[in-house]
Amino acid sequence: MDTNCKEKLEELRAAFDGILQNYLDRMCFKPDILNESMKYSLEQGGKRLRPVLMFACAQMLGGKVQDVAGFALALEMIHTYSLIHDDLPAMDNDDFRRGKPSNHKKFGEGQAILAGDALLNEAYSICFSECSKGKTYRNAAALLCKNAGAAGMVAGQAADLFWQGREGAGKTEADFIFLNKTAKMIMSAVTVPACVYDADENIIALFSEYGKNFGFLFQITDDILDESGDFEKLGKTVGKDKQEKKLSALSLYGREKSEELADYYCGLCLKLLNEMPYESGFLQALTQYVRKREA
Ligand code: IPE
Ligand code: IPE
Ligand code: MG
Ligand code: MG
Ligand code: MG
Repeated sequence: MDTNCKEKLEELRAAFDGILQNYLDRMCFKPDILNESMKYSLEQGGKRLRPVLMFACAQMLGGKVQDVAGFALALEMIHTYSLIHDDLPAMDNDDFRRGKPSNHKKFGEGQAILAGDALLNEAYSICFSECSKGKTYRNAAALLCKNAGAAGMVAGQAADLFWQGREGAGKTEADFIFLNKTAKMIMSAVTVPACVYDADENIIALFSEYGKNFGFLFQITDDILDESGDFEKLGKTVGKDKQEKKLSALSLYGREKSEELADYYCGLCLKLLNEMPYESGFLQALTQYVRKREA
């Protein structure tokens, strides 16, 4: 990634962290343990990929970070809740997240479940207040919520658990998992700005397709890093997918084919960006960065 793009990435991350900090400074739920456990997982260590994507798409469409700030916050809260629950012993049983002990390791399982529930409900609350800004905001909120729930991330997580340790899954099942558990939330990041600015149907479809392929790229690189990544860089335990008998790109295709698939989805993303009638230099660089990521 060249210096300009790196600066842009840092600028968008910092913009999100400022918005989040402002929210956290005013957050004072009771009991204290609920407030603390929500804050603990939101606070540090995350790459903020989804907010960065949302801001970059808003800017590409000629808009401003501030126009989608509420939705970026809501999306990162839903993402963070999904990680807290994903790490629970009943799901992936992971002791580390974002370079720290997982939420349940720090606060106990019950409190971790509730921190996740609270983050999800706060996110919906934010979406509701965004709805007062007009029809395009209501469309964006509806899309974001749909992609997070039973027709999106939750469905992907359910299928991920269902196929754990089970024989008989193939490409169809893996694609369902990648699409729902990971790509749907990334599709929200890129299509929410297109909805907010009332882009035409063809443009929304292009953004959606880009988000979908980016999601596949992101999950396949996550699966590769689960085998060969570095704990210090990732901030989460390596080798868990194999240990927990997960259906992953690696378990289904092996390392070499997974690398090829990641290249394939990266190429599709770049092609889609080229088809968009906007200056997409930063998103091109971000896509290539994700292909080579170490964290
Ligand atoms: C992890 O997401 C969960 C997946 C969808 C693979 P990220 O890798 O974006 O996690 P953070 O937000 O940086 O911690
Ligand atoms: C989880 O996928 C995706 C979510 C919706 C949280 P993984 O289980 O592979 O994510 P990591 O590897 O724990 O971050
Ligand atoms: Mg999981
Ligand atoms: Mg996991
Ligand atoms: Mg993983």
